[in-house]
Amino acid sequence: MRKEQFVCPYEVYDTMEELPQQDADLMRRAHEAARNAYAPYSKFQVGAAARLANGAVVTGNNIENAAYPSGLCAERVTLFSAMAQYPGVSIEALALTAYSETKSIDEPVAPCGACRQVMVEVEQVSKRPLRVLCQGDTGPVMVFDGVESLMPFVFLDKFL
Ligand code: THU
Repeated sequence: MRKEQFVCPYEVYDTMEELPQQDADLMRRAHEAARNAYAPYSKFQVGAAARLANGAVVTGNNIENAAYPSGLCAERVTLFSAMAQYPGVSIEALALTAYSETKSIDEPVAPCGACRQVMVEVEQVSKRPLRVLCQGDTGPVMVFDGVESLMPFVFLDKFL
C-alpha cells in the first residue's frame, strides 16, 4: 500500500482589477449574463462567458424548468453553445459567476461536477488548457490554469 496525494494549484486575485485585461473583460461578460439567467426556482443566477481562439466570446446562464432536472447549468449552456456556434474552434477560457436577489454571494462559485466533466472534454478537443475563472457576485477570483486539477480521476473516452 502507498498513500498518494492530489495537488490542486490555482491563483487567487483579490479583486477583478488585478486580473489580466482579457480575463477581467471575460468576467464582466459573465456578470452581465448572470443578470439574464432564467432561475425562478432557485433564484440563484449563474452567468458564464467563454473566450474562443478566434476571439469570439460566447455567454450563457442557467436555465431552469418546472420539471427541475430539465434545466441546465450556465457552464454547459455556454460551452455547448460555443461548440454549436463555432465547431472546431478551441475554447481558451471560461469565466463563471453567480448573483442572487436573496443573498449576497461574495466567495467564488465552484462549478458542479457534471460541468467539470464537460470542461475536461472541451479542454481535450481544444488541445490547450482551459482557463477557468470563478467569482461570486463580488469578492476574489479563483483561477485554474487547466481543468485537470478540478476533476481528479475524471471519466475519459479511453475507458469506453
Ligand atoms: N448551477 C449552475 O448554473 N452552475 C453550477 O455549476 C452549479 C449550479 C445552477 C443550476 C441551478 O439552476 C442553480 O444553479 C441552483 O443549483
